[in-house]
Amino acid sequence: HPAEGNVLAGEGVPASSGRRSFDHWFGEKGRNGFIHRSWMKSQGFSEEAFDGRPVIGICNTWSELTPCNAHLRRLADSVKRGVWQAGGFPLEFPVMSLGETLLRPTAMLFRNLLSMDVEESLRGNPLDGVVLLTGCDKTTPGSIMGAASVDLPTVVVTGGPMLNGKFRGCDIGSGTAVWRFTQDLNAGRMSAEDFAAAEAGQSRSNGHCMTMGTASTMACMAEALGLQLTGSAAIPAVDSRRYVIAQKSGQRIVEMVKEDLKPSDILTRDAFANAVRANAAIGGSTNFVIHLLAIAGRVGVDVTLDDLDEWARGVPWLVDLQPSGKYLMEDFYYAGGLPAVMKEILPLLKTDAITVTGKTIGENVANAERIEATIPGAAPGSQTYAVIRPVGDPLGSGAGTAVLKGNLAPDGAVIKQSAASERLSRHRGKALVFSSIEEYDKAVEDPELDVDEDTVLVLQNAGPRGYPGMPEVGNLTIPRKLAEIGVDDMVRISDARMSGTAYGTVVLHVTPEAAVGGPLALVRTGDWIELDVPARRLHLDVPDEELEKRRADWQPPTPPTDRGWARLYIDHVTQANQGCDLDFLVGRTGSTVARQSH
Ligand code: FES
Ligand code: MG
Repeated sequence: HPAEGNVLAGEGVPASSGRRSFDHWFGEKGRNGFIHRSWMKSQGFSEEAFDGRPVIGICNTWSELTPCNAHLRRLADSVKRGVWQAGGFPLEFPVMSLGETLLRPTAMLFRNLLSMDVEESLRGNPLDGVVLLTGCDKTTPGSIMGAASVDLPTVVVTGGPMLNGKFRGCDIGSGTAVWRFTQDLNAGRMSAEDFAAAEAGQSRSNGHCMTMGTASTMACMAEALGLQLTGSAAIPAVDSRRYVIAQKSGQRIVEMVKEDLKPSDILTRDAFANAVRANAAIGGSTNFVIHLLAIAGRVGVDVTLDDLDEWARGVPWLVDLQPSGKYLMEDFYYAGGLPAVMKEILPLLKTDAITVTGKTIGENVANAERIEATIPGAAPGSQTYAVIRPVGDPLGSGAGTAVLKGNLAPDGAVIKQSAASERLSRHRGKALVFSSIEEYDKAVEDPELDVDEDTVLVLQNAGPRGYPGMPEVGNLTIPRKLAEIGVDDMVRISDARMSGTAYGTVVLHVTPEAAVGGPLALVRTGDWIELDVPARRLHLDVPDEELEKRRADWQPPTPPTDRGWARLYIDHVTQANQGCDLDFLVGRTGSTVARQSH
């Protein structure tokens, strides 16, 4: 059976013929066809399932350990209904699931592992196209990365956000409420009873975080890139329309297989530019930067950190969602969702970019409508407020994620401007340095800690290799003694990431990271640091000779393990400015069918 030459490849019918599963699996005569069909028939599929119709994989990141994705089995049923309707053969399968709230040391350590699971599952099985069911932060980019490396027709269906959280008469946002209430509890402004009530009211339905955190950001990214159906990103997880769009996605993927519309057709440089601009308009998470760079790497499109900064400049910030603003995803959906935003910024978009609908992004959003909400009790339309601002009245301009450079971050660092304090955007302060997050967590409670509101808090060794996995610890809690007197923001600098639900003047992803000997490793308590966001500058005010002396004394930290996945990760992970992919996963292998298994 093996083809001559390539020991992995099969007989070489181009996978893009649309008959990948038929020619190589279910249409085969003789022994192999018997094997491929017979065992599948054990599930009760009738003969016509094997008649050459497109076989659609439903790649499911469902898991009860990923609460944000706990409803994806049910969503898969709607996708299947659509696939059958359109004349396809749906087959659901599980892949590794990554939940933000439980998984240690950080779900980010496993994003690339999920991508490998997705990639190999797609390539090695009889599939002509795939629907990716995702939700919690890493499940969306990890699944897209894997699918992009295979390049079979692909549609993303995200699980949708939770309903708005509720606590004592107000809406509270996933994550964002936790950071705020924790500070309030620490400062004695909130009782333990109220803290428990908030815990129960925050996550009251299926779905992912309903702030504009990383999961919502990734859902919007998938839609802005053209990988999920128009209007998908914001529909709440429990809204019936989420199930309708899942069914439509199932119908659409069958057509996409026939059209041979693949991720490589959709994920062009224009699509990436659109996603970056949309992200600036929605006030999306900083994690967007790393995931977008990793996806670009898989499809071989040249996108750099500097491109991201350039594309985001001048984009009006329109979406008033927590953590940067006031409202939540449910409100965003009722206000028109991402299509309404994209229509507002249409002149800034590459409107010809093709999407999974088979139409361009410009066509998709042509009839989108921005809807203002009526204040409860007022007559319809009389007193309204805008969750999505009109382009002429933005919340800010150029408030997206900025890329900083300087001797402290030669290869770049990022800051989310919309989540930072204006008064700290130009700041000079003395460093207080911590070499681990555990060290910081101890110090933060210390009433004697030598810190004031101008201090620059510096955290080292929390980068991709150093931790490993680059945890979301960059939004260091304000030291208790300062929180108690009302300090609510300080400049914080690290090689870590931060949760998309977090906020503050937080410089992240400092590259190269401390653990590989980046200048961040050489900062000492008492050094002066200058942050100038408008000038995109991050400067350590220490003479070069002194830094060289410190470098000579520097010892790399001992890796925490010498085996298993973490070992492979530490040995191969790229820096944040390259998306933290594994170096050998960059690029794609395609969907070439492998040689026979028996
Ligand atoms: Fe899953 Fe926030 S914890 S999306
Ligand atoms: Mg998160």
